[in-house]
Amino acid sequence: MNRIGRKKLWQKLLLLDIICIVLLLGGVSYQKIELQTRETVNTIQEKKKVALTFDDGPHPVYTPEMLDVLKEKNVKATFFLLGEQVEKYPDIVKRMSEEGHLIGNHSYKHEQLSKLSSVQACTQVNRTNELIYSVTGKYPEYLRPPFGDWKDRLDCEVNMIEVLWDVDTLDWSSKNKDKVVNKVVTNVEEGDIILMHDSYESTVSATKEIIDILQKDGYEFVTVDELIME
Ligand code: NI
Repeated sequence: MNRIGRKKLWQKLLLLDIICIVLLLGGVSYQKIELQTRETVNTIQEKKKVALTFDDGPHPVYTPEMLDVLKEKNVKATFFLLGEQVEKYPDIVKRMSEEGHLIGNHSYKHEQLSKLSSVQACTQVNRTNELIYSVTGKYPEYLRPPFGDWKDRLDCEVNMIEVLWDVDTLDWSSKNKDKVVNKVVTNVEEGDIILMHDSYESTVSATKEIIDILQKDGYEFVTVDELIME
């Protein structure tokens, strides 16, 4: 082998080494990327879902404050609205819908539906559906009857899915931020629906804390349709 031939061989070997190193490094980083992707998927799958629900609104002061909190924390919630409040504050309902929250029906004026005639109860429900539709362009599919009390086999029931709750914060009774937070964080379990009212300052501040605590604990906030469909 002459000098030139040897040089060429040496160059070829060096090139081969470089190719091997590149392939090796490529392989290692590919494995790393694959591992990271798998970890991300696992983290997403491991998140426990929970739904925040707010009844009796919209309230002229506290609902916008609640929407600010939810926007800041990037959390979607479910609001069960009263028809008479929708009539008074359509702009708040519009904002709620535009910001991606789920809107449900809580009757027209918070009467106990089982104590009304079928016609009256259906009117309470249908009137509210029409009002919400006129503002958001969408008919609500979910109904939370006031006091959780609903007559079976009402003609108007067929198109609505009844949504009750798992954790009752009794925020309307205590009007105390710490009590509301404590009630939720000590009772909540995966898949739970939490009942609150966007009618109190204490509930707005409690919601802020609840979101922070539960997110740290691996919870993800979803709207009730996501829990019910599973
Ligand atoms: Ni209510």
